[in-house]
Amino acid sequence: MSVSIFEGNLCDFSQEPQRAPIGIFDSGVGGLTVLRQLYRQLPNESIIYFGDTARLPYGIRSQAEILQFVREILTWMQQQQVKMVIMACNTSSALALEIVREEFEMPILGLILPGAMAAVQHGKRIGVIATPATAKSNAYRHAIIEADPEAQVWQVGCPEFVPLIEQNRIHDPYTTEVARSYLEPLLQQEIDTLVYGCTHYPHLAPVLRSLIPASLKLVDPAVHVAAACAKELDLLGLKNTYPALPTRFVVSGCPQQFGQSSAQWLGCTPMVEVVCFPNTVVSSN
Ligand code: DGL
Repeated sequence: MSVSIFEGNLCDFSQEPQRAPIGIFDSGVGGLTVLRQLYRQLPNESIIYFGDTARLPYGIRSQAEILQFVREILTWMQQQQVKMVIMACNTSSALALEIVREEFEMPILGLILPGAMAAVQHGKRIGVIATPATAKSNAYRHAIIEADPEAQVWQVGCPEFVPLIEQNRIHDPYTTEVARSYLEPLLQQEIDTLVYGCTHYPHLAPVLRSLIPASLKLVDPAVHVAAACAKELDLLGLKNTYPALPTRFVVSGCPQQFGQSSAQWLGCTPMVEVVCFPNTVVSSN
């Protein structure tokens, strides 16, 4: 019998696969913006959240590194018997999704396509703020142009955002100044739509809204990947009709730090487990 540990209990989901959890992962607290949408749109689903905090930020890594991390995470997720995985990380979605989809049996969803499809519903002059790796990959540009060949796309890599958010410096005046400089080239192009091309960035919503015109439409791909997940579960007959089990939070770095920084978005301090992958090098700071 293949079993998984959920909330300290050994669970076998092979008889009732719809009761198996959905796995979601990010480098850190960014995936909580996806988790929030899953709670809203799919309240019966049990979730395992993995934050690869020992190896963040992902957005300045090479494709080879991201691929290795994603493979390790998906292998672990498979051992946890998840029924589906959501890459709650644009960088992984941009650099690894197409490759690992061929390698793993479970359905894997990413953010780029749902984000691009939503963006073209709102405008034709589309700005994307993203990690340097996502911006450089042009994944959003390609997906948006494919969805609407008349759309124009401007992408800005924002290397300082993830460290500032992970350090909980959202309300630091320095963060506003950094945001102003990232947005400036996009506002100069008179964009009508702005895509959060990194799951960390919706945490900056109050700062970003204070810097953009009220008419500019903000697109959060997290909303749309949760909707895509609901559709996919329906299609596969995997929607859970039983009450959800409490979310399991697992990180590769310091559990206390993740617990503390995530509390402001979760409304409580979660219990956090640690898992170490073979190649995890924990940073010394
Ligand atoms: N939140 C992730 C993303 O959407 C990763 C950010 C990072 O670690 O640089 O790309």
